[in-house]
Amino acid sequence: MKYDLEYVLDSALDGVFIVASDRRLVLFNRACEELYDISREDVVDKACWKLSDFQQSCDSISERDGRISYGELGSKKERMVLTHKEGRQVWVETIYTPIFHKESEEIAYVMGVIKDITELKRAEDEKERLQKELITIRSELESKYDFSTIVGNSPQIIQALKLASQVAPQNTTVMLVGESGTGKELLAKAIHYNSPRASRPFVALNCSAFPDTLFESELFGYEKGAFTGADKSKPGKIALASGGTLFLDEVTSMSPTAQVKILRVIQEREYEPLGAVRSKNADIRIIAATNKELESLVNDGVFREDLYYRLFVYPIQLPPLRERMRDLPLLIETLLKKFHHAMGKSVQGVSSEAMEVLMGYSWPGNVRELQNVIERMMILSKGDRIEMSDLPGYLVDSARTRSRRSDSPSEFSDRISLEDSIHKYERGLILKALQKCDNNKTQAANLLGLSRSTFRYKLSKISPELSMRSRVGAESYRRKWK
Ligand SMILES: Nc1ncnc2c1ncn2[C@@H]1O[C@H](COP(=O)(O)OP(=O)(O)OP(=O)(O)O)[C@@H](O)[C@H]1O
Ligand SMILES: [Mg+2]
Repeated sequence: MKYDLEYVLDSALDGVFIVASDRRLVLFNRACEELYDISREDVVDKACWKLSDFQQSCDSISERDGRISYGELGSKKERMVLTHKEGRQVWVETIYTPIFHKESEEIAYVMGVIKDITELKRAEDEKERLQKELITIRSELESKYDFSTIVGNSPQIIQALKLASQVAPQNTTVMLVGESGTGKELLAKAIHYNSPRASRPFVALNCSAFPDTLFESELFGYEKGAFTGADKSKPGKIALASGGTLFLDEVTSMSPTAQVKILRVIQEREYEPLGAVRSKNADIRIIAATNKELESLVNDGVFREDLYYRLFVYPIQLPPLRERMRDLPLLIETLLKKFHHAMGKSVQGVSSEAMEVLMGYSWPGNVRELQNVIERMMILSKGDRIEMSDLPGYLVDSARTRSRRSDSPSEFSDRISLEDSIHKYERGLILKALQKCDNNKTQAANLLGLSRSTFRYKLSKISPELSMRSRVGAESYRRKWK
C-alpha cells in the first residue's frame, strides 16, 4: 500500500526534519514549523547553515569533506532553547539519526526528531532549585541543632552532652529522661543532626497526643480502603522518618496496646500499615523521651518491662534547672542575645537585684519557663538592663517565699562576682538544710528538692569530709548509666 509520507509526518506531534548530505534541508514537518516558528517554504531546499534560526541544529551535524559524518551522530541528543518571534522561549530536545545510502555505507541523510521539553525543563530547574534549597536548610538545621546550642557548664549538662555525643554516631536507641522544659527534644535533634542519619528526616511523635486507634494510624500509616473514609493511602511516622530518626516523646503515655505495637517495631524492625498485606522495613533510629520515672511505672505494671529494656538501652539524664543554677547566668546571657536578634531590642544584662530573684526561683518549667520569662522581660524592659520592676510578680513572690523559708544567708553585692555569690548562696542553703535535718543527708536533699547524687556532689565541693561519711547517693551511683 502506497502512503503519503509527508502527510503522515505532518500528523506527528514531534518535529521531524531531514537534512541531505550536502546540508540541504529536504523535509520539515508541521510540528517543526511550530517549534522553530518558521514556515517550511522559507527553509526547505535551502542549505541549513545559512538559516539563522536553524543554525544551531545544523551545527550539531558535523561535516567532513563536504559530507555529513556519522562520527558524532550515533544517538546524539541535544537540548537548546528556541526564541519565537513574539519573544516566547521554547526548550527543545533533538535526537539525530543517520540514514545510510542503500548500496553504500555512506550517510545519505540525517533525520532529526525534535520534542518540546519546556515543561520538563521547568520541572528539572525547579527540582534543582529545591535540591539546593534542601542542602541550605539541612546545613542550617545542622548548625541550629549542634551540641553547642545546648547551653550550660554544670557537670550534669557536660555529662549529658558527653554521653549524647558519644552515642550520636551509632544506631543505638537513646532514652532522654528529664522534667518538662529541660531540653529533651533539643538534645534529641542534636543527636540526630550529628549522626550519619542527619541528611534524612527527624520525625517527632508525641505519644500522649493520640487515642489508641489514631496512634496506630499515625505510627504505621494506612493503605487506601483500610477503613471507611480512607480514600487514599497515608504514610505513617515510621515511613516519614525512613533513613532518619523517630523521636517518641512522652513515651510513658503509650497505652498497653500501643506499647505492644511499638515493641514489635523495635524488635523486628518491621511494621504493617493498616490494611497492608505485606510488612515493611522500618529503617529508623529511635530516640525516646520521658519526664516520668520509668522504673516505678514498670514496677506498677503500667509500662511493659520488655519495652522498658528495649528503650532503656542508653539513658541520658537531663537535670532540672534548679539543680544547675550555676548555668542560669549563661542561659540568660544566651537568651538575651537570641531575643536581641529576634526583636532587634538590645538588653545587655540583668541588675544584681533582679538576678538574685531569678536565682532564688525554683523554675518548675525549667529552660522553657526561663525562655518565656526572658522574652517577656525583654518586651517590658525600657532600659538596657532588666530591673526588678520588669520581673513577673509571681516570680518575685515565689523567690521571696523560698528565700525566707531557707533563711537565705545570701548577701548579693555588686562588689563580689556572680559566681562567688551563687556558690555562697548554695553553700549556705546546703549547710542550713543539713543543720535542720540533723545531718541526715537524704532528708536534706529532699528539703532542697535535689536528687541524692546531686546533693552528695555539691556537698563534696563544700566539705569532702562530710560527703565521705555520707551514704547519700549510693543508690543513684548504682544506677546503670552512672
Ligand atoms: N540547655 C539548653 N540550652 C538552650 N536552650 C535550651 C536548653 N534546654 C532547653 N532549651 C530550650 O527550652 C525550650 C524547651 O526545650 P525542649 O522542648 O527541648 O524541652 P523538653 O524537655 O522536650 O520539654 P517537654 O517535656 O515539655 O516536651 C526549647 O525552646 C529549647 O530550645
Ligand atoms: Mg519535648
